Amino acid sequence: MKNIYWQENSISQQERYSLLKQRGIVVWLTGLSGAGKSTLAFALQKKLYEAAYLTYCLDGDNLRHGLNSDLGFSNQDRKENIRRIAEVAALFKDAGIVTLVSCISPHEEMREFAKKLIGHESFIEVYVKASLATCQKRDVKGLYAKAQENNITDFTGISSGYEEPRHADITIDTDLQDLASSVSTIFDHLITLIKCVD
Ligand code: ADX
Repeated sequence: MKNIYWQENSISQQERYSLLKQRGIVVWLTGLSGAGKSTLAFALQKKLYEAAYLTYCLDGDNLRHGLNSDLGFSNQDRKENIRRIAEVAALFKDAGIVTLVSCISPHEEMREFAKKLIGHESFIEVYVKASLATCQKRDVKGLYAKAQENNITDFTGISSGYEEPRHADITIDTDLQDLASSVSTIFDHLITLIKCVD
């Protein structure tokens, strides 16, 4: 970058990880609106907190209230949305925080971008799977009904695409698996990666 220089930090990532007695890991939950990403992320956060790990949830809806409030739902805006979330998650990981990202992130290209930026050894991709019919039936926010009536444009699954992950580390089918066992599946996978060696 022109006229911009990288400033070396005075504390290393390893020193931060040792202080916190954990490694920074990003759990990236992708799936349709209403699939259960936020529910799963918040329940997992609670379990990690009870096990004395420092966590933070980066929730797509919540970030759109602030950091990403200037973005809509065109493919270009979603790309920028995910780019920013991935950059923030990479910083949180560097800080040593177990970071739970829940956002639709419909495009494989941008999920791969996030994985590359964060580092595959610190990245767990979780596909929170539920059929479109189930999400429409749940319709917790009433958005599917609005999208059906053409009151929302570019709605994921209706008038905008969702590319299913092909290489997810974990797939949780919320049509079939209950919340407690879904949380345990991710927790068990995560715990082996969080543990700090020294
Ligand atoms: S993403 O596609 O860019 O990753 P993100 O997770 O940040 O999406 O935001 C999705 C949330 O925004 C949904 O949970 C829903 O509540 C809300 N939303 C509003 N309009 C749309 C839309 N057109 N498509 C999908 N979600 C929408």
